[in-house]
This record gives sequence, C-alpha cells and structure tokens, in this order.
Amino acid sequence: MARERVDCVWIIGPAIMMKVTSECTRPAGIKTFVSLNPVMVDGTGMCGSCRVQIDGTTKFACVDGPEFDAHKVDFNSLMQRLRMYQPEEKESMERYQAHICSCKGGERHA
Ligand code: FES
Repeated sequence: MARERVDCVWIIGPAIMMKVTSECTRPAGIKTFVSLNPVMVDGTGMCGSCRVQIDGTTKFACVDGPEFDAHKVDFNSLMQRLRMYQPEEKESMERYQAHICSCKGGERHA
C-alpha cells in the first residue's frame, strides 16, 4: 500500500488536542492550521478578551483569526486564559443547578 503524502492539516477542537496534534505534524514539516477558541466578548477587536500569542505577537482571534499557523501558537497561554473564568463558571453552574432543584422539584424550566 502506497503512503499518501499529507500536504496540510487543519485541527479544530479543544486547545490541548490542537496543541498535541500540532506537535505531531511539526517534525514532518506539515503545514498545520488551527481554529482557536479563546474567550470572546464583543467579536470586534475592541475588548481584547480573545487575544492570543502567535509567534510572540499578540493577535485577536476574532479579527485576525480564528485560523492560525498551529506551529506558531502559544497554546500554554491560550489554555491558561481559557481557565481564567473557571471559578465564575463553576459558581454559575452551581446556581443554575440549585435553581432547578428548588423551583420545580428537580424539573427543568422551559
Ligand atoms: S472578542 Fe473582543 S477583541 Fe476579540
């Protein structure tokens, strides 16, 4: 069976998966793109919430991306920023779940 040559890879998914997968294509020199999913607020390039580090330069995923050269993305800073609101997300989920249980005996509201 002949091996197919891979010219390009697009990776879309969780940041850790994009990071690990892009490290698999790097040694082979395969051009690799990722579609980043940072926190976005306004989507216009004004708020800065979606900033990512690409080859040492700050870019806004909403206006400069969201597709970038995977081998130039600082995935560690992206993942750190994605965890930034975890305490608030946890609290929000707890409030949501408490509301469901106390209002209708465990039923969800429409
Ligand atoms: S979402 Fe606000 S700058 Fe990108």
